[in-house]
Amino acid sequence: MTLIDPATVRTVGVIGTGTIGASWSAAFLAAGYQVRANDPAPDAEAKLFEFVQQAWPALEKLGAPALPIDRLSFHATPEEAVSGADIVQENAPERVELKQELLARIDRALPPDRVIASSTSGITATTLQVRMAHPRRLVIGHPFNPPHMMPLVEVVGGAATAPETVDWAMTFYRHCAKHPIRIAREKPGHIANRLQAALWREVVSLVADGVASIEDVDAAVAYGPGLRWAIFGPSTIFHLAGGEGGLAHFLDHLAQPMQSWWNSLGNPDLTDPLLRRKLVEAMDKAMANRSIEDLAAERDKSLLGILEVLEAVRGPNAGGSE
Ligand SMILES: NC(=O)c1ccc[n+]([C@@H]2O[C@H](COP(=O)([O-])OP(=O)(O)OC[C@H]3O[C@@H](n4cnc5c(N)ncnc54)[C@H](O)[C@@H]3O)[C@@H](O)[C@H]2O)c1
Repeated sequence: MTLIDPATVRTVGVIGTGTIGASWSAAFLAAGYQVRANDPAPDAEAKLFEFVQQAWPALEKLGAPALPIDRLSFHATPEEAVSGADIVQENAPERVELKQELLARIDRALPPDRVIASSTSGITATTLQVRMAHPRRLVIGHPFNPPHMMPLVEVVGGAATAPETVDWAMTFYRHCAKHPIRIAREKPGHIANRLQAALWREVVSLVADGVASIEDVDAAVAYGPGLRWAIFGPSTIFHLAGGEGGLAHFLDHLAQPMQSWWNSLGNPDLTDPLLRRKLVEAMDKAMANRSIEDLAAERDKSLLGILEVLEAVRGPNAGGSE
C-alpha cells in the first residue's frame, strides 16, 4: 500500500476537540489546511470555534494569516468528519477501549492510503491498532500542550505500523511547522513526559527532604537551566560546557561527580498521602498571591515571546529529526 504524498494534503480530520483536539485544529488551520472536526459533546462545536478564535491572535504573531474560519467545519459523526480527509488526528479521551473502537471506525471510513495519527500520551500504538483492518497506517503523533503553540511532536509507531507511515508523519508534521522527533521504540510516556517525570522526581525529593522551599527549587530551574533548555537540550548544553573539547572534555571533568550525584538522587513515593499534603500546602503557600488565571496569562505571554525570539534567530520552525 502506498500512502498519499504528504505534500498533497489539503484536509485534516480532527476527531475529539477537547483541550488537545481544539488546539490541533488551530495549528492545522494555521498551517493552511482545511479542518473537518467531530466530537460527541453537546457544546463541542461552539467551544471549538471559540477556542480557535481566541488562539488566533497568538498564531498571527507567529506568522499565520487572518483566521480562515470558513476552512473549519464541524460534523455529526467521525465518519462524516473523516470523509475527504487526507490525514486524521485522533484526540479522544485517554481510554483504551474507547480509542480502539473509535480508531476501528475511522479505519473503516478512511481509504487505506491515508495516515491515522493518535495524540495519546500514554497508550502504545501497538495497543491502539489491534482492532484496525489497516493497522499499518496508525502512528502516534503526540503533541505538547497547547499544540497550536508548542513545536514538539513525538512520533512513534506500533508493532504493526509500517515504517513508511512513521516517515510520512514526520514529513507531515514538518509541513505543519512543527518539530517532530522520531521515537524508535515504544516507551510509556514517550520521551518528553519521561524527562519531565525524571526531573520532577528530584524536585519532589528535594522539597520533601527540606533541602529548599518549593519556590526556590522551581526558581533553580526557571531562572537557571530552564532558560538554556529552551534553546538547546541538556546534552548540547553540556557539549557547550566542555568548551572547545565539547562533551568529551565535559565528561573527563564531570563524569565522576555527576555519577555520584546520580547515585544520591531521591526516589520519593508520589502516592504517599503525607507527601501529597506537604507538596500541595507548600505550593498553596508559595502561590498565595497568584491566581491560576494570572499564572496562565504570564506563561502564555512569555511562551509567545520565547517562540518569537527563537523563530527570529532560527527562521520559521520546520525542523525535526530525519
Ligand atoms: N491534555 C494534555 O496535556 C495532553 C497532551 C498531549 C496529548 N494528550 C492526549 O490527547 C488526547 C485528548 O486529551 P485532552 O486533554 O484533549 O482530553 P479532553 O477531555 O480535553 O478532550 C477529549 C474530547 O474527546 C471527546 N470525546 C469523548 N468521546 C469521544 C468519542 N467517542 N469520539 C470522539 N471524541 C470523543 C470529548 O467530548 C472531549 O471533548 C488524550 O489521548 C491525551 O492523552 C493530552
